[in-house]
Amino acid sequence: MPPPLTGYTDRFSAAPGGRIAFKISSTFEEAYDVDVVRIIHGDPNPDGPGVKLRPVKTDIEGRYPSRFQPTHLGSYVVVDDMPGLHGLNGFSVAATIWPTLPDKGPQAVISKGDPTAGAGFALEIGPDGASFAVGDGAGGETRVAVGKRIRRHQWYRVRASHDPSTGTITVSQEPLKAEHGVDDDGTATIALKSTAAPDTPEPVLVAARSGRVLHRHFNGKIEDPFIAATADHEVLRALPPGKLPDSTVLGLDFGRDFSGVRVHYSGSRPEELTQNLNMTSPPPVTFNPGTADPAAPAARLVNLPARAVTGSNWDGTEMSFRHAPEQYRAIHFHEDDLADCGWEDDFVFDIPEDMPSGVYGCRIRCRHAEDVIPFYIRPRKGKPTSDVVFLASTFTYQIYANHQRNVSDHKFREKGKRWGAAQYLPDDHSDYAHSTYNLHTDGSGVGYSTRLRPIMTMRHNFLTFDDPYGSGLRHFPADTHLIDWLDAMGHDVDVITDQDLDDEGVELIAPYKVVLTGSHPEYHTKGTLDALTEYAHERGGRLMYMGGNGFYWRVARSEDWPGALEIRRAEGGIRAWAAEPGEYYNAFDGQYGGLWRRNGRPPQQLAGVGFSSQGAFEGSHYRRSEGGDDPRAAWILEGINEEVLGNFGLSGGGAAGFELDRADIRLGTPENAVVIASSESHQPSFIAVLEDQLSQRNTVTGVPHDKLIRADITYFDTANGGAVFSVGSITFCGSLSHQDYKNSISRMVDNVLRRFKET
Ligand SMILES: [Fe+2]
Repeated sequence: MPPPLTGYTDRFSAAPGGRIAFKISSTFEEAYDVDVVRIIHGDPNPDGPGVKLRPVKTDIEGRYPSRFQPTHLGSYVVVDDMPGLHGLNGFSVAATIWPTLPDKGPQAVISKGDPTAGAGFALEIGPDGASFAVGDGAGGETRVAVGKRIRRHQWYRVRASHDPSTGTITVSQEPLKAEHGVDDDGTATIALKSTAAPDTPEPVLVAARSGRVLHRHFNGKIEDPFIAATADHEVLRALPPGKLPDSTVLGLDFGRDFSGVRVHYSGSRPEELTQNLNMTSPPPVTFNPGTADPAAPAARLVNLPARAVTGSNWDGTEMSFRHAPEQYRAIHFHEDDLADCGWEDDFVFDIPEDMPSGVYGCRIRCRHAEDVIPFYIRPRKGKPTSDVVFLASTFTYQIYANHQRNVSDHKFREKGKRWGAAQYLPDDHSDYAHSTYNLHTDGSGVGYSTRLRPIMTMRHNFLTFDDPYGSGLRHFPADTHLIDWLDAMGHDVDVITDQDLDDEGVELIAPYKVVLTGSHPEYHTKGTLDALTEYAHERGGRLMYMGGNGFYWRVARSEDWPGALEIRRAEGGIRAWAAEPGEYYNAFDGQYGGLWRRNGRPPQQLAGVGFSSQGAFEGSHYRRSEGGDDPRAAWILEGINEEVLGNFGLSGGGAAGFELDRADIRLGTPENAVVIASSESHQPSFIAVLEDQLSQRNTVTGVPHDKLIRADITYFDTANGGAVFSVGSITFCGSLSHQDYKNSISRMVDNVLRRFKET
């Protein structure tokens, strides 16, 4: 069940003069109320400053009629109908497949129309093996199945043919590699109930079947699907691997244009053939659910299946699809893929000229239901309104979007109600697909995440963990700890997002004296990492890295999939799943995916510290080290007399917790870096990151395992008056508001920010 009232925006950020469109789905009969708030503090924990939302008068305030907007999960290929697919005197369909859930129920490999309703055909797999169904033209179908189980994660050829001369249909399945003792090779033929041609003007679908809504989504890989104007099953059987019959009328080549929406035809002949035939059938059907784009190519992907995955002929000689595209002709489809909910606009916000840069929310309310959809107002391009800018980690928020953690037990839910936390939990609603920390239903890792959907985890008052020592906030809500502190301390800041920085590069931040990150700026494109590096290391910018496990994974974007990010959980790193061999390269940009460290750019190079240890969501403290008295950095701890820093806070109960970063010259920490404090006394749940471990004894940089479990607060100067200050812990910002913002952590950050912006 989808949440009763929710929505999303067409973009995360806009400047005055720009506009943001809101797409709302409501299951209520009556209208819902809309207003806008400025989000200052999202943490509903009664032990902290509490939620602070400041109402803002805008033109979009008002009542709007409710309407339900559906979301269709599942990826597939759609090919508009074409003349060559009509008037055939017998035909065949075939593909090479690698199913991942063959026992789950019928899943379409190639279909046209809905034979169960009497028209079209479908080559499918299911518990009774490969099957073929054709419509009888009278509201029913003829169906034949091989009747032998198909093994998961094995390659098969599946073929079907319709032969009006004999009045039969035939289906076959053939494993590419037979397994001893397994009988899964077979053919079945049956007499047709009707000699009517299974003609329909509907489009051809790969990996789904038409109907009232698309259904029977395929799970697994499909390679070289085709339709041929031959009824002879033996012609299909005799085909060498990768070869299509001469009579092919539609063949699809998935081994091209890996980042795109467009699907290419195999060779040039099928396209010519279909275009040159006389048009005797109905005109091409435009079939484009969710994205009514008349300019869409005739054969295209919907809902972002996995590309650049190994095909049936991948032999390990190349690890990148760019080097052997012919070995990457498969696409991995999932029944739970999503690229874009495709909802219509309900209202559009024209950003007033005088709207200050900041974090905002569009609040929608109806009866007991409430949702606050966040958005950012950034300054106009080239017109900063402050010396300081907060870079919202929207790539990271998006990568984690709707992360289902299975942590929502009764106690957690009761706490959420008591505190007035966000109402919708991903554990309850899988309607808007997964995060890249989840697995697809077929057990494969989720490698794409779109922002064009409601994001339950990106709400100011969303609780992630049942944190016994604090609030359990992460990401967007956790970053309001910093937004609130800036507000409470009177620091004016502009706000921009990762997308803004990726789109515009270093020039966007160059005018600022200081860039502040949030608690967990983990995911970066080459564009955002380059911009921050040039800013802080060459252009005299001052970077305040206010979190942990930052600058860790490499992500990619594609112009064809504007809402999406791609992640390959390639070798190394603390990972939610592991990319398959041969699939470490991003389809979107062709680059080696995974850790930036494995791309020669450990976080220490930019920030002085990098991921070193992870534990449960619990915190400890830092202890001032010798570097705290170093004349280059002594000003940072000015006015702070304590040796122990941050043994308090709303995130895990301590400033050093959950994910910790350390300085390490062997990983790129600059020689002139000063560590002013290091954390200690971490709980038994903490382990050293896997990429630093070689064995139970040895580590990559020679630091003993237990010494890797620490966060270092680190400072260094850079060229042209630049500087970097890094705290190296995800829970750090949770400590800022302690004792009415009068505490050692708050004082330290204030010392740094004032010096950075005032000198
Ligand atoms: Fe993370």
